[in-house]
Amino acid sequence: MKNITFIGSGYVGLVSGAGISDFGHKVICADISEEKIQLLKNGKVPIYEPGLTELIKKNVDAGRLFFTSDLKKAIKKSDIIFIAVGTPQGEDRAADISSVKSVAKIIGENLNKYKVICTKSTVPVGTGELVKKIINKHNDKQTPFGYVSNPEFLREGSAIKDFLWPDRIVIGSDNKKSFDIMKEVYNPLYINDKPILNTSIVTAEMIKYAANAFLALKISYINEVANLCEALGANVQDVSKAMGQDGRISSKFLHPGPGYGGSCFPKDTKAFAALSRKNGQKMQTIEAAIEANKHQKIRMVKKIRSLVDGDFSKKIISVLGLSFKPNTDDIRDSASIDMINAINDGGGLVRAYDPIANDSMKKLFRNVEYFESWEEACKDADAVVIMTEWNEFRSMSIQKLKQLMNKPVLLDTRNIISIQKLKENEFYYDNVGRVSDDAN
Ligand code: UGA
Repeated sequence: MKNITFIGSGYVGLVSGAGISDFGHKVICADISEEKIQLLKNGKVPIYEPGLTELIKKNVDAGRLFFTSDLKKAIKKSDIIFIAVGTPQGEDRAADISSVKSVAKIIGENLNKYKVICTKSTVPVGTGELVKKIINKHNDKQTPFGYVSNPEFLREGSAIKDFLWPDRIVIGSDNKKSFDIMKEVYNPLYINDKPILNTSIVTAEMIKYAANAFLALKISYINEVANLCEALGANVQDVSKAMGQDGRISSKFLHPGPGYGGSCFPKDTKAFAALSRKNGQKMQTIEAAIEANKHQKIRMVKKIRSLVDGDFSKKIISVLGLSFKPNTDDIRDSASIDMINAINDGGGLVRAYDPIANDSMKKLFRNVEYFESWEEACKDADAVVIMTEWNEFRSMSIQKLKQLMNKPVLLDTRNIISIQKLKENEFYYDNVGRVSDDAN
């Protein structure tokens, strides 16, 4: 059993902290926000992630998971410190690592015995060296420490599953002692035969960006294939299904849509592109993926505009799904933001519904009407746009939808509605990459 502190009790810190406490270790989730810590101490989880509240409760009850805003005390008590603070996009597109730097300083000042310092936040390649330097600078007693990079590969909405059943664990270290300690942290997974890859620190940092950027690239690629399918009358769902059956390609992340969003892909691709330019190795593929994603979002707006005869003015448009993907209330960089902005700018009226992200969107758009069900949101609509593939939209009755609407007009940016049903109900419709057939 190890004593572990997570500094940063946001998305990554909470999921990983709760997950590691579930392995049997004693974990303190620390954060400078007293408000957040108070909430957690009261059994409330400040983010929406399926299964997280239960996992936290289970481990708090078992006496393995604690919360504090006293970073210094938490650091002193622990054998391993995870840095899990946010690294938002900075002004120059590169990730802003100011929080990582200030945490490194506090760690240096409070090193009272040998500890392993582990960065979990997504940081630009090369940050490990900087963190080590900062710790050393403030480590007056020159207490020895180990440094590792342990990137996370969690997906919002399925983060608990991803944490407890990962495809792989990457640990970048420059000495065997710290790697062995980290291996013990993940011992339960190791027993389950999950590959634990030991790399250099810089390689581990690189793996995170290379993986995220590749997935984003894959999405932009299939989106462009979908757009070409539209021009040629082919069906992208069949194309992607057949492509995915090739083991070298794999079927995952081959779903065309309105353009990727979230807190990771948009930020990480830009940071990766900025990093590569800075190092004189411009990554043309990633820059193209970013550009293609921007166009995909614009393309969705063009589609709905053309479905409503080229003019949003005074039209009621219902937007179903606001989060950047299902099972999260996160709307960061969601394609629905671009959609709502364009409809608003064009003088249209937006009626929105999301099973859980209404409140998040309310902070961004006040001039949108929010509803508690898709039925209410679609009443009297001149057009409906599906932006997120929530299950409840998949099973929506198209007949009922038609009865509710002023005109049967639908844009399905996630390809979840059967074209057959839309045709039967005489809808005027569009989707992404399916001109004629219906692969449903
Ligand atoms: C992503 C990665 O998948 C995780 O492995 C990584 O740990 C995480 O970023 C991170 O760096 O923290 P996440 O942003 O939660 O996870 O969401 P994804 O499931 O990857 O989806 C990202 C976006 O791509 C969403 O807008 C989604 O709708 C879109 N997408 C995904 C598609 O348009 N098509 C697909 O086939 C898959």
